[in-house]
Amino acid sequence: MLVEMPDRLLIVDDDESLQELCAAAFKLDGYHVEVASSGEGGLKKLDAAPFDLVVTDLFMPGKLDGAGLVRAVKARFPSTEVIVMTAVPTLKTAISTLKDGASDYVIKPFETDHLRVIARRALEQRRLRRELDTERAMRQELATAYKELQKVEELKESFLARISHELRTPLSELLTAVELMEQAAGSTTDPQKLSRYIGLSKQGATRMERTLSDLLAFVELQRRPLVEKGKEVSIAGVCRDVVERLKPLTEPRGIHVELKFPDGLPNVVGDPELLQRAFEHLIHNAAVFNKDKGRITLNARAEAGSIYLDVSDTGEGIPQEEFERIFDSFYQIASYLTRKVGGLGLGLAITRRIVEAHGGHIDVTSKVGEGTTFRVRLPFKADAKPAASAV
Ligand SMILES: Nc1ncnc2c1ncn2[C@@H]1O[C@H](COP(=O)(O)OP(=O)(O)O)[C@@H](O)[C@H]1O
Ligand SMILES: [Mg+2]
Repeated sequence: MLVEMPDRLLIVDDDESLQELCAAAFKLDGYHVEVASSGEGGLKKLDAAPFDLVVTDLFMPGKLDGAGLVRAVKARFPSTEVIVMTAVPTLKTAISTLKDGASDYVIKPFETDHLRVIARRALEQRRLRRELDTERAMRQELATAYKELQKVEELKESFLARISHELRTPLSELLTAVELMEQAAGSTTDPQKLSRYIGLSKQGATRMERTLSDLLAFVELQRRPLVEKGKEVSIAGVCRDVVERLKPLTEPRGIHVELKFPDGLPNVVGDPELLQRAFEHLIHNAAVFNKDKGRITLNARAEAGSIYLDVSDTGEGIPQEEFERIFDSFYQIASYLTRKVGGLGLGLAITRRIVEAHGGHIDVTSKVGEGTTFRVRLPFKADAKPAASAV
C-alpha cells in the first residue's frame, strides 16, 4: 500500500512564541512542521527541501520581508501555497500579496483553530489543482500520442503510394512495350522499331528491378548491421564498373564522367557487392540530378589510413538545410509526385549505412545551382595491396 507522506509546512515569523504556538497547532493535524525566523532563513529551508505550505508573517526584520518572501516562493516554487499573517494596520499589504500569489491571509491576533482551517483549505485547493494539472498533462500526452499515430499512418500511406508509383510506372512502360511488340509480331517487322521496343521493356524491367533490390537491401541492412568484411576491394575497379553500367543514363544526356584515381591507391577491406551498391547510388544521383551535358567527377586519394572519394556533379545542388535529412530513409527534397526522376528516397540512407558498416563516413557539400560533392571516407588495411592487383 502507498504510504501517504504528511504535508510539509514552514512557519516563518520572527516572534518565537508565535512560531511555537502555530507549530503545536499544526502538529495536531499531523503535518510535518518546520520553522524559520526570517525571510532569508525561510528561503534557505525551501532551497533545502520542498514544502507544501508556507505560513509567513508580513513584517520581519532583515532584507526579505513577508511580501518579498511571497514573491520569491511563487517565482521559484510555484506549486507551494503561501498564507500571510498580518496585523490590522497592514491589511492592505496583506491583500496585495494575494496578487503576488498568496492563497489567503489571517489577521493577528488569531485563534490557532482558525489558522488550521485556512491551512487545510489552502492545502485542499493545492491538491485539487495538482489533480487537475495531472489530468491536463495526461490529456496532453494522449493528444500528442494520437498525433504521432496519425503521422505514422500518413507516412505509411505515402510510403505505400510511393512504392506503388515506383513499381507501376516502369511496369506500364514494360507492358506498353510488350504490347507494341505483340502488334509488330503480326506485321512486317521493322527491326529498328523492334529494337526500340526491346530497349523500352528492358528499361522498365531494370527500373523495377532496381526499386525492388533497394527495398530488399534496405531491409537486409536494418537486420544485418555488420557486413561481411572479408575481401579486398579496389575502389577504382568498383567505380569503373558502376560508371560503365550507368552509361545508358549518362550518355543519352551528354553527361561527361571523369575518373581521377591515382596509381597505387590501396584496397579497402570489405564487402564488394555492398560497396558497389553504395557507389552506384552516389553516381546514379550525380547523373539523375545533373543537367544535360553536365559533368560527374570521381576523385580519390589516400591519406592517413583512409581513402577519400569525392563524387562531384554539376547538377541542381542541395540547400544546406537539407544536408542532414537527405540521408534519412524515404526522404526526398522534391515530392515524388512533382519530381522528374524516380526513386524511393532510400539511396543515401543505404549508402550511409554501408559506408558506416565499413568503419567509414559520408558527408555532403553543395551549392544550389552549381553542384554537389559527396565525400566518402573509408579506412583501408595498412598492408593492403595496390589496386592494380585486385578485383
Ligand atoms: N547529387 C545530388 N544532387 C542534388 N540532389 C541530390 C543529389 N543526391 C541526392 N539528392 C537529393 O537527396 C534526395 C535523397 O536521395 P536518395 O536517398 O538517393 O533518394 P532518391 O534518389 O530515391 O530520391 C533526393 O531525392 C534528392 O533530392
Ligand atoms: Mg537516389
